[in-house]
Amino acid sequence: MPTQKDDGRYELDPEDGLRRAIVGDWAPEKHLRLQKYVDITRAVRRKFGGNATYIDLYCGSGRARLRKTGEVVEGSALVAATEAMRGRNPYREVIIGDLDPVNVEACEARLNRLRVDNVRAYAGTAEDVATRILPTLHPTGFNLAFLDPFNLESLPFQVIQTLSQAKSMDLLIHVSIMDLQRNVRTLMASGKLNSFAPGWDKKINSAATNPKLVMAVFEYWRSLLSQLGYLVSDNIERVTGNRNQPLYWLVLASKHDLADKLWGEVSQVEPQGRLVL
Ligand SMILES: C[S@@+](CC[C@H](N)C(=O)[O-])C[C@H]1O[C@@H](n2cnc3c(N)ncnc32)[C@H](O)[C@@H]1O
Repeated sequence: MPTQKDDGRYELDPEDGLRRAIVGDWAPEKHLRLQKYVDITRAVRRKFGGNATYIDLYCGSGRARLRKTGEVVEGSALVAATEAMRGRNPYREVIIGDLDPVNVEACEARLNRLRVDNVRAYAGTAEDVATRILPTLHPTGFNLAFLDPFNLESLPFQVIQTLSQAKSMDLLIHVSIMDLQRNVRTLMASGKLNSFAPGWDKKINSAATNPKLVMAVFEYWRSLLSQLGYLVSDNIERVTGNRNQPLYWLVLASKHDLADKLWGEVSQVEPQGRLVL
């Protein structure tokens, strides 16, 4: 029996005996954007004849308690799958993955309990799981991948590169600006930044001030997505913490223009020109 209480991030959920995460109170904001995007892309799923797949490569355990308020909330995969099931055009399949097998097991059990059809679950790094699932996706289907790592170190660009090989793959990506702000120089020195943003060292002046460096890395990362044929929405959802400190940005990338328009309708728009840390 795996231990359910590690490093204060998890506890047992008395309701179902499975692991749940203990998270910051801003998590519902992230889920709300995901939920709205799943809702607003209903017609797109219909257009693809129902061949739509939701992919969550950092799925967590599927349930969490907010640290401050104590409120218990569903995890991203449950939010997305149940929103799609509400009304027509649910996902034909839901793919979940997480590095931690206990999370994968809990998330899968919770999706099954909600009677979500065709759940496929994988334990492994996002990089590994992306490679495993790519050949199994419907060749002309519509996919939405939600990438929600704790930090940038867990988001190698290779994950995006692999997913981008699918014909239609919208990406909703959580970029931890807090992590970038705090650790950009350490990430540079250790070589780990190269995994998130390969080739940054040839394009970015590492002697720049911290805020300039953070913006330069972010913009460079966006340019890498563009090189893969992605339109990266200028509408970046900027989420701040209780003390108004920047926590993360939600970035939508897609290969079709409509996605940008739809995301603009559901995100709390922060035009790129005004993006500040
Ligand atoms: C922010 S949590 C995910 C929360 C979940 N998306 C939600 O909203 O309910 C990040 C998750 O990433 C997992 N993780 C960490 N490193 C990973 C990696 N390299 N590949 C895949 N999952 C990873 C962690 O175990 C954790 O469950």
